[in-house]
Amino acid sequence: MKQKILLTGKGGQVGSELYRLLPRLGDLVAPDRRELDLLDPDSIRRVVRNIRPQLIVNAAAYTAVDAAEGDEANAYAVNAIAPAVLAEEAKKLGAAVVHYSTDYVFDGAKAEPYEEMDPANPISVYGKTKLAGEQAIRSTGVPHLIFRTAWVYATRGRNFLLTILRLATEKEELRIVRDQIGAPTWSLEIAGATTKILAQVIERSSVTSAFSEVSGTYHLTAAGETTWCDFARAILEEASHTPQSIPWFDAATGGRRLATRHIIPITAQEYPTAAARPAYSVLSNSLLVQTFGVALPDWRTQMQRCFISESIAANLLAE
Ligand SMILES: NC(=O)c1ccc[n+]([C@@H]2O[C@H](COP(=O)([O-])OP(=O)(O)OC[C@H]3O[C@@H](n4cnc5c(N)ncnc54)[C@H](OP(=O)(O)O)[C@@H]3O)[C@@H](O)[C@H]2O)c1
Repeated sequence: MKQKILLTGKGGQVGSELYRLLPRLGDLVAPDRRELDLLDPDSIRRVVRNIRPQLIVNAAAYTAVDAAEGDEANAYAVNAIAPAVLAEEAKKLGAAVVHYSTDYVFDGAKAEPYEEMDPANPISVYGKTKLAGEQAIRSTGVPHLIFRTAWVYATRGRNFLLTILRLATEKEELRIVRDQIGAPTWSLEIAGATTKILAQVIERSSVTSAFSEVSGTYHLTAAGETTWCDFARAILEEASHTPQSIPWFDAATGGRRLATRHIIPITAQEYPTAAARPAYSVLSNSLLVQTFGVALPDWRTQMQRCFISESIAANLLAE
């Protein structure tokens, strides 16, 4: 039987890719913020009861890490209360939940990749609200998959890749943080891995019983690790091979030439932000590989794919 899937956040980096991929798994219903406002628990209950999905995929979140420091109530409502209500409603319906969380649930004190069972200790409001969301889903007892991902970028939305491309048209020199280590992960890889995993789970039998077997928290990021500074260098290197007249690239650069000649490594202390970020937040993906046989490529390969695939797609559309 075809599954009915409810997707939130279809306008986001990960959500927009899921919106393209999930229809192959079932009947997708993807209300936007006007139809389903996650700040309003009654709206959530009403929409879920009306749609009666077998699966809820929550790709929506309050992701403005610095803004969250001064806007805790809204960040908590979207990142903690809304997932709790989605999970409670799913549980009542006998449905399952897929949810995304973040490397920022960790404090960054470790020097080797974090495992799922490592104690979380968020150092920002965003991280705290995301951890509260994870805990709320678990405590409902609903069958769930929580995927912790990291340093997400896409060719749309607000992210480091697009910010660097824009700044690179404006400044000859960029000063970028060198002492925070993580794994930049392309939104399409996250959505692709999620879809592959869900296809496996759905094939097994009924969604809820299959979900119950694998229910839990998994790290889902690019392999490898880098710093923001080396990520910026890699972006500019890749950009130098990218022909102009690719719509997303032109949108990011405003059609201007890249002017940056030097990237100067600086410390996080030299670049103060409202929210503290972990110095080290690489996540081990071993459990994901063991459980589902799904391994994401390393961050550099993902970035190359992102540039190439978007260029190919744009050229095809232009033909
Ligand atoms: N971005 C990162 O670097 C990063 C890193 C680690 C983990 N994650 C996690 O990965 C997941 C996906 O992140 P992303 O980067 O794809 O997020 P994103 O691009 O910021 O998109 C967030 C989505 O949530 C929706 N949303 C926000 N508030 C809402 C509300 N009150 N009601 C309904 N919808 C609302 C937004 O709607 P509009 O389109 O209307 O704004 C948008 O579609 C999230 O769980 C995030 O915490 C992200």
